[in-house]
Amino acid sequence: MRIVHWLFVVSVALFVSGVGFLVVSARTAQRPAAVVQAPVMKPVATVRQIMQGIVGPAAKVVFESVSTTVSLEGVQEKAPQSDAEWEAVGNSAAALVESANLMTVGNRAIDADWTKMSQALADAGIVALKAIEAKDPDALLASGEAINESCNACHRKYSRS
Ligand code: HEC
Repeated sequence: MRIVHWLFVVSVALFVSGVGFLVVSARTAQRPAAVVQAPVMKPVATVRQIMQGIVGPAAKVVFESVSTTVSLEGVQEKAPQSDAEWEAVGNSAAALVESANLMTVGNRAIDADWTKMSQALADAGIVALKAIEAKDPDALLASGEAINESCNACHRKYSRS
């Protein structure tokens, strides 16, 4: 009886250490995936290039996506109609948000205000994105004010050359 008992204990111990080994080896196998590092971003473009190449054109698409024109012929409401048109303005709103991220990469962030103002642009762009997801022209139009204010705030402090 005793021997059987000990064999039982030994086999349980072996089983437990076997499971432990499996757990450890599974963790070890996973480790390389966790170590993959995000590539270090090397800023290349000047702020002016980001403004003229990304921010300016993207803002133009967002600003012009919803409008009301009053003329002799009457009132003309313009807003994205098809899924493709909503997607297009969404692409530009997303570009605005991501360009705000770019503004804080490497040595582009001059000081704390710069980072705050970039964040304000990102936040305003996200409000526009939400309006676009909801296909809500009024909310999209309203989001333009905060976007525009975020541009002006930064340009007031860091004068455009
Ligand atoms: C975090 C700061 C910051 C924000 C936010 C910002 N800009 Fe700028 N912008 C600058 C700076 C600095 C310059 C000047 C760059 C230079 O000429 O060297 C500039 C220049 C520009 C220029 C090119 C220069 C010119 O006079 O034509 C355009 C276009 C522009 N910004 C558009 C915008 C728009 C549109 C927004 C908002 C959607 C915006 N910017 C938001 C900092 C900012």
